[in-house]
Amino acid sequence: MPTTKKVHIITFGCQMNEADSEGIAAAFRRRGYSLTDDLKKADAVVVNTCTVRQRAEDKAISQIGRLRVWKEKHADGKIFVVGCAAQKLGGKNLKGRFPFVDEVVGAKAIESFEDALVAQLGPTPESETAHQNLFRSPQTAYVTIMRGCSLKCSYCIVPAVRGPAVFLSPAAVLKDAADKIAAGAKEIVLLGQTVNSYKHGQTTFAELLKEVLALPGLRRLRFMSPHPLYFDEGFTRLLAAEPRLARYIHLPVQSGSDRILGLMRRGYTRRAYLDLIGRLRAAAPGLAVSTDFIVGYPGETEQDFEDTLALVREGRFSLAYCFKYSPRSDKPEMAATIGEAEMEARLEKLLAAVKENSRLVLNERIGKIEEVLFETQTYGRASGNFAVRVKAGGAPGSTAKVLVTGAAKNTLNGKLI
Ligand code: 5AD
Ligand code: SF4
Repeated sequence: MPTTKKVHIITFGCQMNEADSEGIAAAFRRRGYSLTDDLKKADAVVVNTCTVRQRAEDKAISQIGRLRVWKEKHADGKIFVVGCAAQKLGGKNLKGRFPFVDEVVGAKAIESFEDALVAQLGPTPESETAHQNLFRSPQTAYVTIMRGCSLKCSYCIVPAVRGPAVFLSPAAVLKDAADKIAAGAKEIVLLGQTVNSYKHGQTTFAELLKEVLALPGLRRLRFMSPHPLYFDEGFTRLLAAEPRLARYIHLPVQSGSDRILGLMRRGYTRRAYLDLIGRLRAAAPGLAVSTDFIVGYPGETEQDFEDTLALVREGRFSLAYCFKYSPRSDKPEMAATIGEAEMEARLEKLLAAVKENSRLVLNERIGKIEEVLFETQTYGRASGNFAVRVKAGGAPGSTAKVLVTGAAKNTLNGKLI
């Protein structure tokens, strides 16, 4: 038997990139490649890059730089650089800086990755079209329902690198989801930059969710990331009626100051955001909400920052990702207005507030009942996305109710009921 060739895929950035990497892995598998975690054993390397913040771009660039040595030892090896930083910097620039890179495919052209493969490796052998399990975690599968973003948040580079929103047809989404369930997925995560803005013909986001929920075998449905502007009543009704729709929503707020939200062009106020999560929680008692914050946006005063700090408690977020503002354009008005030390100090204060609040939110769950999707006999994830441990008795791949008896670090402990 000839040994199969191997591809090593390095993914930076968000779930959209992870989903794209799964598609890329599938394209390699159709050619008989398997995935390897070991760069030394690889015959091809893919770097899927991110540019959402400068640090993400820098990380991807230094990763590409480190591949020089690999290429020297693997003269026939192929290097593919894809994703958002590839889109932003362009193939000419990247190949100029890193002549050992074979192909550059930007995020906008990711659907033509197959063409890059054909260019480097020749046509796809017909017999290799397989129906294989493509997921690293057999339980959870990502399904992309839209690409790009049509909003214009002032700090964000995504619309420039990924282009305006384009929605996949319900038929395409359902086929992708059904294939992944058939391959073993129990939980589907629908993906898009403003995922709840989905609209295709007459099909709204809520209607698409209903259609996915109707697929046999699906235990839980999640989505990521929604935008506060696009939740409608149809969605709230569905959330109230359908327990398989996860009791967890990641809803980026970015700032707790109305002035900063306005400058960011987010389209909502602090009050409107809080009212919205109040409505969602009324529809789904116990709903966990997590968020994203940016600190140090240009012009952010001490008072603006205090408003953000206060929102952590008021929003009762189970989790929050906090980022230092990173300028993505050269426009002078988009430059940071506080120094690095102050930026760092605000970030640390916010992280401490988030940590303390997460502990409170986790502890509130003690004595409550959580629906858990088990990955092993002793470990699973609650509908609210909390990690849950039991002593024994979980059935991998199925859901069961667990009484929470304690909380430690980021995990709930409990027993099956
Ligand atoms: N600087 C810092 N954080 C940013 N994000 C997006 N753009 C920037 C930027 N220029 C954060 C937002 C978003 C998350 C994915 O990344 O919080 O929700
Ligand atoms: Fe960027 Fe705003 Fe679109 Fe999110 S909604 S991708 S932050 S422009």
